[in-house]
Formats: sequence, structure tokens, C-alpha cells
Amino acid sequence: MPDLSPLPAPDTEVEYAEVARAESERGELVLRQRREGEGPVVLELRANGVFVMDTREVGSERALATAALAVVEQPRAVVVGGLGLGFTLREVLTDPRVERAAVVEIEQSLVDWMRDGTVPHGPTLLADERVTVVVADVAAALEEARPASYDLVLLDVDNGPGYLVHDENAAIYRAPFLRTAARALRPGGAVVVWSAQESPALERAMREALGECEVHPHPVLLQEREETYWLYLARV
Ligand SMILES: C[S@@+](CC[C@H](N)C(=O)[O-])C[C@H]1O[C@@H](n2cnc3c(N)ncnc32)[C@H](O)[C@@H]1O
Repeated sequence: MPDLSPLPAPDTEVEYAEVARAESERGELVLRQRREGEGPVVLELRANGVFVMDTREVGSERALATAALAVVEQPRAVVVGGLGLGFTLREVLTDPRVERAAVVEIEQSLVDWMRDGTVPHGPTLLADERVTVVVADVAAALEEARPASYDLVLLDVDNGPGYLVHDENAAIYRAPFLRTAARALRPGGAVVVWSAQESPALERAMREALGECEVHPHPVLLQEREETYWLYLARV
């Protein structure tokens, strides 16, 4: 899997300091601070040495929420698959139409770091009374969800279908699971999937499972490097 970690500007010294480390059955999870030159301190999350995300460029994590909230009339109940460092969830909660947000995160230690302030913005975010945190595989959680009980399912659990953080997540990007996700939605609801790269296979799977798929490119600037992240959106 390619490394998506941002490249520092040439001749810039980068300092790292470990903040927290945990082991789970999926391997090692590390939270660390990164400082480039005189720049701000950034938090970075890595799973088994692979860059998952940082707090520096979170526009596409937020766009996952805003794109979804824009296409649904009454997004009263939302599922966020993958807490990460909480930027998608935070954006969901800025919408006053949202009454319930269930965030499903597979790593207990990450939830703990968000709750106990190891991630400084975590406690305030999770204290929002609309939030329920579920420590589980989002695939299993949606399998168990009551039919037609949510308005949005937002999925950002890997770096996308081509850059899996955990191999077991491959099924999340295929039609059978996408149908399961759609079953949890009320009519007029939507499923949106974040991806670090364009994925015709995901687009096909969404069309097969949900009957349609809008592809939204999202340009981002990672240090000096221009990249495009992608959102795959379907209404039911
Ligand atoms: C890229 S981060 C999510 C970023 C998040 N959108 C944000 O704004 O911070 C992916 C998260 O999904 C979690 N994850 C990975 N596989 C999962 C699964 N099958 N079910 C639930 N969470 C999962 C990872 O532990 C990680 O916290």
C-alpha cells in the first residue's frame, strides 16, 4: 500500500513525539505529534506503521459529512463509520437537523484517547448528547441495525478500497455490504464513502447495490503536493 503521509517541504526538519500506543487483535495503533520546522504541531494516527490520517488536512473528512448532509432533507439519524480523529463526526454535529449520531469505531483505544483528552478536542466532541459511540466493526453494526432507522451512513474506515488499513474491510466496498448499509436507511437517505483514490470498482458496486452513484472529486493540498480525494454518494 502506498504511503499517504504528507511529504515535508524540502530542507524542513520534522520532529516526531509519540503520544500514545496500543495493541489490538488488528495490530498496533500509534498516535504521535509531528512538527515541521516552525509549523504547528499536528497529530498523526498510524495503524501497523501505515499513515491513517492527521489533523493538518481534514477538508475531505469534513466534506464527507457536508456532501451527505446536503442531499438529505431530514438527516435526523446518522451513522459515522470510523471515528478516526473525529472530524467527520464534528461536521455532522454542526447540523442542527441531526438528532442522533452513532459513531462506530473498531479500536477501543482510539475511543479512549478521544474520551480522556489524549486527543485534546475529543472530550468535547464525544460529550455532545446526540452522540453514541459503538466500539465494533461497522460491517457488523450495520448488519444488526434496525431496517430504516437512519438517514445517512458515512463510511471512512480505510484510506479507501485500494488502500485498506485492515484487509477484512475489503467487503465494505462491495455490493452485498452496501445493500446492508442501504437497508438501515429510511427512504430519501444516502450512503457516502470516502476514498483516497478514484475507484471505478466502488462506483460499480454502488450502482449495483443502490441503483446510482455520484462521484465527487475533492482536491486537497498536502504540503506542496496537489492530490484528489474522492466521495462516492448514493441515495436510496
Ligand atoms: C481514516 S480514519 C477516519 C477519519 C474520520 N473520518 C475523521 O474525520 O477523523 C479511519 C478510522 O476507521 C477505523 N476503522 C477501521 N476499520 C473499521 C471497521 N471495520 N469498523 C469501524 N471502524 C473501523 C480506524 O480505526 C480509524 O479510526
